[in-house]
Amino acid sequence: MDNSLIIALDFANGGEVNQFLTPFEGKELFVKVGMELFYQEGPSIIHQLKDKGHRIFLDLKLHDIPNTVKSAMKGLARLECDLVNVHAAGGKEMMQAALEGLEAGTAAGRKRPDCIAVSQLTSTSEEQMNKEQLIPVSLKDSVLHYASLTKEAGLDGVVCSAWETAFIREQLGNTFLTVCPGIRMAEDNVGDQKRVATPEFARNTGVSAIVVGRSITRSADPLKSYEQWMEAWKGINQ
Ligand code: C5P
Repeated sequence: MDNSLIIALDFANGGEVNQFLTPFEGKELFVKVGMELFYQEGPSIIHQLKDKGHRIFLDLKLHDIPNTVKSAMKGLARLECDLVNVHAAGGKEMMQAALEGLEAGTAAGRKRPDCIAVSQLTSTSEEQMNKEQLIPVSLKDSVLHYASLTKEAGLDGVVCSAWETAFIREQLGNTFLTVCPGIRMAEDNVGDQKRVATPEFARNTGVSAIVVGRSITRSADPLKSYEQWMEAWKGINQ
């Protein structure tokens, strides 16, 4: 997990994914399958990506009653992904149930997937959180509160913005994972993201893994973009 660049495969179907992955033939990537792709293709897309040797973050952000999340995670564990997630807003009991489900669905002798919780979406601003969720604290405090709850529930880390990572590291230690979307090169389009940061900032602040979507997937030359991103993120030529 450490220092991974996770490519968000936000595509409408498997055909588009194959087209995108063609220039990456022979490279072992860490990819993220989200709702858009999974709801169209189902488990078969996971099997196909695993057959190509890619590591997988299945980003379905589960948020439901504990029993439902537990059963869903038991099923998802059988797909043998590397990383899965829930919304921390579902509560501690729901997060504990997610882990129980993952453990129950993981074959004997295998390691269960890492499980992280979304703190506040990187598309959420402090103003939105205050006015729409009626959470009357700063965004940083809300993220830290959810991160602490996530750790208490026994999960492996959180999805947060790079801006909150140093603070989380300070309070919750270095082994707690921080997976950060909303990463943009200085000259990139921000799109619907609000709490954005550059790869250099993410590296310097100790982020465990960055998630990059449109900056690579919508680029005219995705392989070249990926290589530039790896260089910026790791600070070296790949
Ligand atoms: O295209 P972009 O780089 O903004 O993609 C970010 C990806 O990370 C999207 O797939 C989005 O669903 C996901 N994500 C996010 N914020 C979170 C959790 C996941 O942007 N808190």
